Amino acid sequence: MSDAPQQNGTAFPPRVFSGIQPSGGLTLGNYLGAIRRFVNMQEANQGKGIETLYCMVDQHAITVPQSPADLTRNTRELAAGYIAAGLDPAKSILFNQSQVAEHAQLGWIFNCVARMGWMQRMTQWKDKAGKNTQNASLGLFAYPALMAADILVYHATHVPVGEDQKQHVELTRDIAAKFNHDYGVDFFPMTEPVIEGAATRVMSLRDGSKKMSKSDPSDASRINMTDDADAIAQKIRKARTDPDALPSEVEGLKDRAEARNLVNIYAALDNRTVDQVLSEVGGKQFSEFKPMLADLAVARLSPISTEMARLMQTPDEIDTILRSGAERARAIAAPILQQTYDIVGMIR
Ligand code: TRP
Repeated sequence: MSDAPQQNGTAFPPRVFSGIQPSGGLTLGNYLGAIRRFVNMQEANQGKGIETLYCMVDQHAITVPQSPADLTRNTRELAAGYIAAGLDPAKSILFNQSQVAEHAQLGWIFNCVARMGWMQRMTQWKDKAGKNTQNASLGLFAYPALMAADILVYHATHVPVGEDQKQHVELTRDIAAKFNHDYGVDFFPMTEPVIEGAATRVMSLRDGSKKMSKSDPSDASRINMTDDADAIAQKIRKARTDPDALPSEVEGLKDRAEARNLVNIYAALDNRTVDQVLSEVGGKQFSEFKPMLADLAVARLSPISTEMARLMQTPDEIDTILRSGAERARAIAAPILQQTYDIVGMIR
């Protein structure tokens, strides 16, 4: 992790925060692009007195319609995915956003700091609201201000996110800077996004030009974190490829989106670079490479889906972990919110 961000000469101690929306359907893309990176940051920061906080952002999920039963189930499933993938409640603070009211409380203050024009420029807003912006929820529009509050209510300095969230982290900095400037304080840090590398961008198994997505109508296009060993192996066997053998160098993957995706997945799952993998598998046909990839994917992913399935059978265990995480999160957030109220001039 880089040095703590500086603002007017004051260093903020490093703290890591990230969140995922419990809107259902965790894929290999969520695992390699987000959750596994959360685990790596958890491990890298152990014993350094640096907290890592990982949230299920249920208040963000309801900016578009969610049925109550699905929201509950998806929140538990996301928690199960976090834990099964290696996020450890003894090492990280795992919790549910709505259980820590300070997020929404600071979110309101930030609604009054952020400008309409800033929000209107957000590409996720434009994408999600579509043409009919008049019918989108006010929450969807204000979403990035709540995200800024998620981060800044902990004075978090480092936020692992995908490329698509970079703009929201930049907005978080704009909100922090405007708050600090308007109130003449040096209170909120300038948070750094920690962006995923290109190799962790996982594409559809049916079309290498599209991102692997939970909303693709074809289940064969994705590996779900809940897929069992048979499903994982079968989807990889059926993944689209081209007729050529694998190249021995990265340049040989140019214009071969499906081949590149499978090699990327192999490299990511094996914690190796694409070059290293190609030096080993260059010259092989897909008939030989696919079983290798299937074995590796099953070895890495099926213990996770097995543990997720076990946890989903014991929802009380999940709820207990989330409740205790929320308590620990609140212990950090409450004093920061209180100081914010003091700065703003709200009477205690
Ligand atoms: N906006 C993020 C997404 O859609 C989720 C999110 C909400 C988040 N609050 C956050 C991510 C705070 C990082 C930090 O993926």
